[in-house]
Amino acid sequence: MAEHLEIASGTKDDKYSLLYRQIESVIEGENDIIANMANVASMIHFTFDFWWTGFYRVVEGELHLGPFQGPLACTRIKHGRGVCGTAWATATTQVVPDVDKFPGHIACSSASRSEIVVPMISGGEVVAVLDIDSQYLATFDHTDQTWLERIVALLTR
Ligand code: SME
Repeated sequence: MAEHLEIASGTKDDKYSLLYRQIESVIEGENDIIANMANVASMIHFTFDFWWTGFYRVVEGELHLGPFQGPLACTRIKHGRGVCGTAWATATTQVVPDVDKFPGHIACSSASRSEIVVPMISGGEVVAVLDIDSQYLATFDHTDQTWLERIVALLTR
C-alpha cells in the first residue's frame, strides 16, 4: 500500500473515481469495520480537505461517535435528531447546502456551513452514518452523493 494517498487532479468525479479504487484496495482483506471506517474517514477527508469527516454508529438505539478526522464532535445523537439522526430515521442521504436552514441541525462546530450524511445499510437496517461537514456553503451535490453512497456500500459488502 502506498505510504501516502495519491490525490487525483481533475474533476471531482476523477478524484472520487481514484479514491474509490484506493478505498477498495485498502479495505480488501480487512473485516474489522472500525478499522475500515477509520481509514475511509481519513482517505475522504484528506482527498477533499473537508472540515470534518467521520462515522456515527447505531449503538443501543442511539448514534455514537465513531472514527473521524477533524475537530472534536458531539458523541451521541438521538434517532431523528439533526442531519445525522434524520439520515438514520429516513435511511436516505441528506444533502444540506446551508446547515442554518436545516431544522434541528446539531452544530458541533460553528465553522460548519454545509453537510452531507449518508446512511450505511446492512441487512435492511441503518447500522451507521457517514457524516461530512464543509466550511463552505453548498459544497455537496449529486456527484458527492453518488460516490459516497458507493463508498459506504463497500464497507458493508
Ligand atoms: N451536524 C450533525 C452533527 C454531527 S457533527 O456535524 C460532526 C447533525 O446535525 O446531525
